[in-house]
Amino acid sequence: MKLVVGLAGASGSIYAARFLKALFSIEGETYITASPASLRIFSEEYETSVKTTEDILLFVEEKWKVKPKHKFHVRNFLDIGSDIASGSNVWDAMVVIPCSMKTVASMSAGLTENLIERAADVTLKERRRLIVVPRETPYNRIHLRNMLALDEAGAILLPASPGFYQMPKTLDDLGDFIAGRILNLLGHSQTLFPKWEG
Ligand SMILES: Cc1cc2nc3c(=O)[nH]c(=O)nc-3n(C[C@H](O)[C@H](O)[C@H](O)COP(=O)(O)O)c2cc1C
Repeated sequence: MKLVVGLAGASGSIYAARFLKALFSIEGETYITASPASLRIFSEEYETSVKTTEDILLFVEEKWKVKPKHKFHVRNFLDIGSDIASGSNVWDAMVVIPCSMKTVASMSAGLTENLIERAADVTLKERRRLIVVPRETPYNRIHLRNMLALDEAGAILLPASPGFYQMPKTLDDLGDFIAGRILNLLGHSQTLFPKWEG
């Protein structure tokens, strides 16, 4: 599995952290970039200080003592000349987690000012899978229109709204619900939460 993962500046760092933790134990490789806003919010929500994308990976590795089976390639958020800015570099899917309404707006309008936006644009034009995990509440009509435009362009909107029927005990359980649903969409079996048995 070859992925691109972008962390944009929405609340919900836990979704990114638990998804990355899950990726650590899966064979494959991921190109990853985090926006400055996402680093700030991650720092606030985890009461830590992450200044770079590498810091986030290190944080996840140390917090949950996971040994990486997965290969991560960090890319600079502002480097729109990066390898993942071109469709000639082939990846299976891209995940934007969490995704701000600003990045939703840019992606839906085809604006590509940073590497998350450019890689998302490439993902859509190459007809690859783009999974977007938006977080805002409430939504205004602009947000809704932009999300509809993204869906119409082929993206999958997987909102940061975990289910509660699995009886989550911890915040990590809520993060794992979203991480597991993404893995399902990536065609990967997952045991982060049990299947609903009816
Ligand atoms: C603490 C904090 C929480 C935020 N939470 C959200 C959010 O949940 N959803 C959202 O759309 N924007 C949120 N924002 C605003 C975005 O970070 C801001 O629009 C930023 O420009 C997004 O840029 P990016 O998508 O390139 O990271 C938040 C900002 C801060 C400082």
